[in-house]
Amino acid sequence: MIENNATFETAGYSHYAVSHRPQRIDIGAESLGLVWDDGHVSEFHYLWLRDNCPCSDCVSSLTREQLFEICDAPLSIRPLEAQLRGDYLEILWKGDGHRSRFHPGWLRSHCYSDQARAARQWQPAIWDRAAIEASLPRYEYADMMQHDAILLRWLRKLRDSGISLLHNSDTTPGTLQRVAQRISFVRETNFGTLFDVRSKPDANTAAYTTLRLPLHTDLPTRELQPGLQFLHCLENDATGGESILVDGFCIAQYMREQHPDDFDALSSLPMDFYNKDRNSDYRFRGPAIVLDGQGAVSEIRFANFLRGPLDVPPDQVVRHYRAYRTFISLTREARFQFEYRLVPGDLLVFDNRRVLHARRAFDLQQGQRHLQGCYVDRDELLSRIRVLERSL
Ligand code: OGA
Ligand code: ZN
Ligand code: ZN
Repeated sequence: MIENNATFETAGYSHYAVSHRPQRIDIGAESLGLVWDDGHVSEFHYLWLRDNCPCSDCVSSLTREQLFEICDAPLSIRPLEAQLRGDYLEILWKGDGHRSRFHPGWLRSHCYSDQARAARQWQPAIWDRAAIEASLPRYEYADMMQHDAILLRWLRKLRDSGISLLHNSDTTPGTLQRVAQRISFVRETNFGTLFDVRSKPDANTAAYTTLRLPLHTDLPTRELQPGLQFLHCLENDATGGESILVDGFCIAQYMREQHPDDFDALSSLPMDFYNKDRNSDYRFRGPAIVLDGQGAVSEIRFANFLRGPLDVPPDQVVRHYRAYRTFISLTREARFQFEYRLVPGDLLVFDNRRVLHARRAFDLQQGQRHLQGCYVDRDELLSRIRVLERSL
């Protein structure tokens, strides 16, 4: 029988539903096999189990941060006893006699079998024009501001499709700050906390002119491009100025399948992005298509008007330009472009590290055009979703 003076519930298990129950354990040489009631088999290494002991000696009940360090246990750590007690897995460790007790819902949701890891992998909902015209996530501003359940629905859609539109928002300047705060902190930049997108006599970027803006991500000049971009339409009765959005992940996927060498070039050769102003000089060097450790596309970095001179080995110059031209040509194809004309009260929110945005040139003879914008990092979006999911 295992007893322990330390408490077990420090990890906050309430949101780990017990969807399946463990039925049998097999004590192996360096890991424990757990057979579940649906036939699924998990393998948990002893090192991993010891490292994840949730007791209050190992994890602070105050901060929920780990106190224990795995290098303080031997690499060859083994259990003296391991048993199922009810639905819990209980282990008495050889050596120091430490005791650990694992919640079944927590264990199942952290199973690292190939199958479980694949099922946990987030997949973006990639779109082209037809797909997004049929299913653009649209929400009413007032509903989202009032109801956390709608806020959560909106944020999940935004995470998965990388784009959304809120309708009928208050058009008082500054309202955007309150919307962004429904998620979390606004990311401040040299353009301000909220920035006004309108034609300015002393424009320090193409966005603040009446010129056409080709498809781009904002701030590719930064080590971390802002995650979410908000564009809040306050006035738009100028001629022109329509918005165009393209899912960069869709373009990258198409390139990978149809133009593999161009894909390899854009995901490996660095580009230089510059933005200079009187008191700032931002530069970043990195590839246009960013891959994660598994080779999946995690980010697009792209703005024709913010590039510095190409700086790659001579035998890669033509290869780069070929790939760069292919990418731009694809983004110009109508089948990938979602075009939309913002009306006052519309609030367009998209993942700036994925979705490229553009606007047509506009003419101010017939009316005004005024948007306010801001950024919120991806971390803030994901954190808000997780916190809302605790209670909804
Ligand atoms: C921007 C931008 C789009 C627009 O400010 O970064 O792309 O529609 N603006 O004016
Ligand atoms: Zn412990
Ligand atoms: Zn922009």
